[in-house]
Amino acid sequence: MRTFEGAAVRFDVISLFPDMIGDAAGYGVTGAAIERGIVELVLWNPRDFTEDKHRTVDDRPYGGGPGMVMKVAPLRDAIRAARQDSNRPARTIYLSPQGKRLTQKHIQAFSALPRLLLVAGRYEGIDERVIETEIDEECSIGDYILSGGEIAALAVIDAVTRLLPGVLGDAESALQDSHTTGLLDYPHYTRPEEVDGRRVPAVLMRGNHRAIERWRLQQALGRTWLKRPDMLKAHPLSSEQRRLLEEFKETRDGSLAHSPDEADGT
Ligand SMILES: C[S@@+](CC[C@H](N)C(=O)[O-])C[C@H]1O[C@@H](n2cnc3c(N)ncnc32)[C@H](O)[C@@H]1O
Repeated sequence: MRTFEGAAVRFDVISLFPDMIGDAAGYGVTGAAIERGIVELVLWNPRDFTEDKHRTVDDRPYGGGPGMVMKVAPLRDAIRAARQDSNRPARTIYLSPQGKRLTQKHIQAFSALPRLLLVAGRYEGIDERVIETEIDEECSIGDYILSGGEIAALAVIDAVTRLLPGVLGDAESALQDSHTTGLLDYPHYTRPEEVDGRRVPAVLMRGNHRAIERWRLQQALGRTWLKRPDMLKAHPLSSEQRRLLEEFKETRDGSLAHSPDEADGT
């Protein structure tokens, strides 16, 4: 794999509201990663690639109908200018509700790329010919409609950044996160030891690391079974994991001892 000087990943975002991206990415983990040069963020506004007095970026749809469509020329020119701004090869992604639904697996694959060029649409979307000529893939963050691709682009930037080496204080925390192991994360507790009569599980207080590890795995299995049984179908369990899950089911209190399907009423 070719390595590049500087940031581990460069994000270029094409958006009519670049400040939305710059401002939000400036906080927390992403903000620190940008500050430390692990991530580079470059913003491009198609409005800067217009030539008319009104800096027009949208137009009416051919065939009529509601809404406006992002014009080809300013968007295409912004994408091409971004691509040529660096010798790093870029994967060009259009954030779109029609794209493949992103999972942690896609995010892990993106985190190994040197550069992502993220295109955020607005209005009814972008002209189909821009998708045909400029876009490598379309990605969705879920089956619902946002008014623009900026929040989706930010979701990708955030999720990719926290996987990059040196970004999280404790790299292990990303490894145990929900959707990384195929299971949901186990429950977390911090001080105080008791809140409104609810105590931290005793096993976590005893300092027996093997017992804590076993309990956490059992909790991860159990809550995946309760909250996301679909994930368990795609995750083959070892015999030890099956045993831990059976034990979890048996030791649930009466109200939760039924299967998640029954709990759902489905
Ligand atoms: C109002 S939406 C356009 C939706 C489009 N008419 C459709 O039904 O496919 C405007 C922009 O928001 C972004 N967007 C909306 N929902 C999204 C989602 N679920 N995932 C990623 N981007 C989304 C896209 O960039 C899109 O161009």
